[in-house]
Amino acid sequence: MPSYMTLEQIDDAVAALRQRTTLEPQVAIILGSGLNGLAESVEEAVAIPFGDLPHWPVSTVYGHAGRLVLGKLEGRPVFVMQGRVHFYEGYSMSQVTFPVRVMQRLGIQILIVTNAAGAVNPDYAPGDVMLILDHLNLVGMAGFNPLFGPNLDEFGPRFPDMSRAYDRQLHDLARRAAAENGILLHEGVYVGLSGPSFETPADLRFLRNAGADAVGMSTVPEVTVARHGGTRVLGFSGISNKANLDGSTETTHEEVLEAGKLLVPKLETLVRGVLRQI
Ligand code: HPA
Repeated sequence: MPSYMTLEQIDDAVAALRQRTTLEPQVAIILGSGLNGLAESVEEAVAIPFGDLPHWPVSTVYGHAGRLVLGKLEGRPVFVMQGRVHFYEGYSMSQVTFPVRVMQRLGIQILIVTNAAGAVNPDYAPGDVMLILDHLNLVGMAGFNPLFGPNLDEFGPRFPDMSRAYDRQLHDLARRAAAENGILLHEGVYVGLSGPSFETPADLRFLRNAGADAVGMSTVPEVTVARHGGTRVLGFSGISNKANLDGSTETTHEEVLEAGKLLVPKLETLVRGVLRQI
């Protein structure tokens, strides 16, 4: 397998999807750890296991369902990725972001990303939601950017702008949805790390000083590829745990999944509220 996914491979998956549905969603939603429940309320749903789609990376992590659900939310056709794959699973950045490429080829205009994240900001509590205003691409800075390799000119330029990675108009829609439904919505910076180990207290103090509010192991690659292809992005972090800046508590995957139960109804309300306004 080449280290970089090609347009041909992307279009193989596009062709396979076209055989399974006639829907042409303009909105795609990626669900993070413990947030799978959001896909349960998709109407007229067709669910396609990732493994049925050529070249599509399959998630290996407990808590990630690994299906693409096509259907309607608030009357709008949507792609919902129930689960995603991560760099720490051993996939290349190009594989991690392959689904975004396929959905771009199928015509999406807006990508809504969600993730489970640790709170670096001491004012955040488990169960809270943060609107992602911007991100810190530490993994990219360390040499793992999903746009490494031959540029796919069909999608975008060699050196894409990232000054407004998260769409300001969509921010406003999210704020309105939160206000109308009485949901506390923090606003902050997400930092994407590779994982899979959680952070040391020193890591976390460094991240806090660098301007991070929430930390996780996903999202940044997908958003980078989305922006390269001109897709507008809205992102929410579901805060699953307090990051352990002083070393006094441990972080576990179980607590991340547990917080998902509190977060799913809030995220569903926010996503539905945004979809109604688009
Ligand atoms: N750190 C990194 N990733 C995470 C965390 C965390 O504390 N919680 C959920 N995903």
